[in-house]
Amino acid sequence: MIQTHKCGELRSAHIGKRVVLAGWVNRRRDHGGLVFIDLRDREGLVQVVFNPEISPEAHTIADSLRNEYVLQVWGEVARRPSGTENLKLPTGEIEIIAGNAVVLNSSKNPPFYINEETEVDENLRLKYRYLDLRRPRMKENVILRHQVIKFMRDFLTEREFIEIETPILIKSTPEGARDYLVPSRVHAGKFYALPQSPQQLKQLLMVAGFEKYFQIARCFRDEDPRADRQPEFTQLDMEMSFVDEEDILGLLEEMFTNLISAVKPSLKLIRPFPRLSFREAMDRFGCDKPDIRFALEFKDLSDIAVRTDFAVFREAVQKGGRVKGICAPGCAKYSRRQIDDLTQLCKEYGAKGLATIALTDDSGRLGVDKAISFVAKFLTSEDLEEIAQRFEAGPGDMILILADQQDTVNRALGQLRLEMGRRLGLIDPELLAFAFILDFPLFQWVEEEQRWDSMHHPFTAPFEEDIPLLDVDPGKVRSRHYDVICNGAELSSGSIRIHQRELQEKVLATLGYKNEEMHAQFGQLLEALDYGAPPHGGIAPGIDRLLMLMAGEQNIREVIPFPKTQSAYDPLFDAPSEVSEQQLKELRLAVLKESSKVEM
Ligand code: AMO
Ligand code: AMP
Repeated sequence: MIQTHKCGELRSAHIGKRVVLAGWVNRRRDHGGLVFIDLRDREGLVQVVFNPEISPEAHTIADSLRNEYVLQVWGEVARRPSGTENLKLPTGEIEIIAGNAVVLNSSKNPPFYINEETEVDENLRLKYRYLDLRRPRMKENVILRHQVIKFMRDFLTEREFIEIETPILIKSTPEGARDYLVPSRVHAGKFYALPQSPQQLKQLLMVAGFEKYFQIARCFRDEDPRADRQPEFTQLDMEMSFVDEEDILGLLEEMFTNLISAVKPSLKLIRPFPRLSFREAMDRFGCDKPDIRFALEFKDLSDIAVRTDFAVFREAVQKGGRVKGICAPGCAKYSRRQIDDLTQLCKEYGAKGLATIALTDDSGRLGVDKAISFVAKFLTSEDLEEIAQRFEAGPGDMILILADQQDTVNRALGQLRLEMGRRLGLIDPELLAFAFILDFPLFQWVEEEQRWDSMHHPFTAPFEEDIPLLDVDPGKVRSRHYDVICNGAELSSGSIRIHQRELQEKVLATLGYKNEEMHAQFGQLLEALDYGAPPHGGIAPGIDRLLMLMAGEQNIREVIPFPKTQSAYDPLFDAPSEVSEQQLKELRLAVLKESSKVEM
């Protein structure tokens, strides 16, 4: 090693020690004679002082230094002169008196500041990701990633899980996205698919008798990236034999709890993790991954709304829709402008309008601020009392109501709830509100395609007692699918699986697979189920999303060392890119001109 110590590890206990350091010039300050360098390595910063009277040679070198030069320094650790300590820096009590120095490499002026947390265009950051990763926040995120993955490996290994790798070149397992395809040269005209997840493989490993498996698994899905979605991402993929839901939920709760206390103990949890049924989550929060760090729960007002004289309310219910609202405490004084902003937000999510009831204290009785509440004139005082009671609302509160089809109300009111949670400061940034969502339906109806689709994936087991409903009323079949949610994100999905061929074929048939298709796509799994497949189940926490929440980031790109942009592009490697004619020829592929018309 050409360093004896790390810059960031030096403390007053090292005073008097002779050290050799190597790192990057984070900042250089010339104080007429004395040159101060903040030298940076992975562990942090230390101040190095170049004094011409102590070492003229080293001082000459210090004169030539620029930011991001790579430097090796020989020197002695000294206490900083009284009054010059920097309490913000862990090494702030000491400095290095340089005896000698060598420039190991120079650096061009970086395209953005590395020593300051400034806003930088994301494309530029990703093009120079190796420089972006030098910045402390990104470095911390990458190290956090290592700590989390190491914790998971150790935790599961201690509990007798075996880490097993599965292929990347494989046939696809449907997880709801498009596949990334890889053309085969040896089998020209045929394609591998990159795995959307190792779902079928981990089930096959249960048939193979491994009983407890895990993998830090890379998954590939060709879907439009979003803040919490990347084309390639990482799951902690797990599967266990001879288990039921409680075994898996218990293990997960223990893992997440121990993980947080080991790796980021400043974060708080709600224990035990709350459990909500899918129905309850939809009714109370309008989605199956609610942010439960705060309440502002939905209340259904359809029964009251339908008997009012307000046509918007009445007609919504008569057309099969719902009228639901939330109560924003202390917001009765919201201005017209503030309400217009909230209305605009609801409209962005498909709502047609937003009704508001600003509750006042009308000489001792519950009243409405008519200037703010357009709907007030349609409500009797009994209606008003009943609405207020439903929310346990009182004077000073504002009730925000949407009338529309159920999906629209849930979507827009859900966004409004989040916005109000933020505005009212109800969200504790130090809280990770994990919860389990249970009792999902097995299928959801896809209106455009007029068919049933799996709510999770086709290998999820139905409730035993609901199996007869598969033939008569698939929509009513409940599934043994469970999710872990946290702060409004779906963190993990899993289920107890189908382990009997007959039932698996029946579920695939309900999903509309014809016999041949079923065997072409799932033949390997169906056949394996014939050879003594044990009852089994599993789950797959999304590691990137977990890290995003643990790091307090708004975007998973911040916790992935080399992510793709929002348009699935890699600015560093300029990928995807064109390939040579020769490569295409070997694969017997031709690329259609952009102008060619293709039937989609
Ligand atoms: P699912 O498809 O729900 O389940 O994925 C599991 C978890 O992976 C994360 N995730 C993603 N993270 C980033 N970018 C994406 N594009 C992305 N897609 C999913 C989420 C999600 O909860 N095979 C099943 C698991 C099982 O049944 O065991 C599966 O993959 O955090
Ligand atoms: P409009 O007739 O569109 O001007 O709406 C009059 C008022 O009715 C609006 O200011 C809202 O308060 C309310 N409103 C309209 N549409 C809806 C809706 N879908 N849900 C709730 N309130 C609505």
